[in-house]
Amino acid sequence: MNDLKGVILAGGTASRLKPLTKVTNKHLLPVGKKPMIYYSIEKLVGAGISDILVVTGVEHLGSVVELLGSGRDFGCSFTYKVQDDAGGIAQALGLAEGFVAGSPVLVILGDNLFQDSLRDYVREYLGQGGGARILLKAVHDPERFGVAVLDGGKVVKVVEKPEEPESELAVTGVYFYDSSVYDIIRTLKPSGRGELEITDVNNEYIRRGSMQCCIMRGWWSDAGTFESLEHVQRLVRDNPPE
Ligand code: DAU
Repeated sequence: MNDLKGVILAGGTASRLKPLTKVTNKHLLPVGKKPMIYYSIEKLVGAGISDILVVTGVEHLGSVVELLGSGRDFGCSFTYKVQDDAGGIAQALGLAEGFVAGSPVLVILGDNLFQDSLRDYVREYLGQGGGARILLKAVHDPERFGVAVLDGGKVVKVVEKPEEPESELAVTGVYFYDSSVYDIIRTLKPSGRGELEITDVNNEYIRRGSMQCCIMRGWWSDAGTFESLEHVQRLVRDNPPE
């Protein structure tokens, strides 16, 4: 056990998956035999994290609560927060400040699925003594993601959806932060797409010299497009997450 809190971000508009997401939340769509959001919950609980905040949009909060309940069925305790508009991942994380109350936090984007258990990554983060940690994965289409540039094993910058990626290492939607993340979020300005970007948060930790990274061993994919959702269905079927 540790005092790490969990945050699952399950807001956003999911416009790339319409009409599948016209009347439902992306994170409730089926992946294999379960709703997508179950995978994030199971990863957090499997890593010993039992206090979990779920952030979602106002339209689908009712369905999310109806599905997940108090957390009793998963062996954890859920708190819920509404993000009024999809103002970005960093904005959604900002809503967790009162919930985490000074503790470090492990954040998962609810449309990210992956094979590895989080147990080892949690141990590594707790051993690093504060700061932030991101998990990276080599992909064939890095231009779709935040891309990390490394120098001697250290991440020196992250670029959000670069036209010409300097590496093939995508920043996955699994992030560890200490409580200074909220002060950083307060300084952010909206990006070109009108969002508070998690990549700007990560670059600030890099600037402060307190960002660590590691590479995921097993498969990883997002599920935010038809192609990636289909891909994830195959990955889950052929190699179920640990
Ligand atoms: O999948 C990993 C990638 O996720 C990272 O490599 C990128 O650096 C990061 O910016 C993000 O990229 P996307 O543009 O693909 O993120 P998307 O807008 O699809 O949002 C991902 C999840 O975050 C989604 O499942 C719901 C949550 N979210 C998103 C937004 C914009 C929220 O909860 N609220 C929001 O306002």
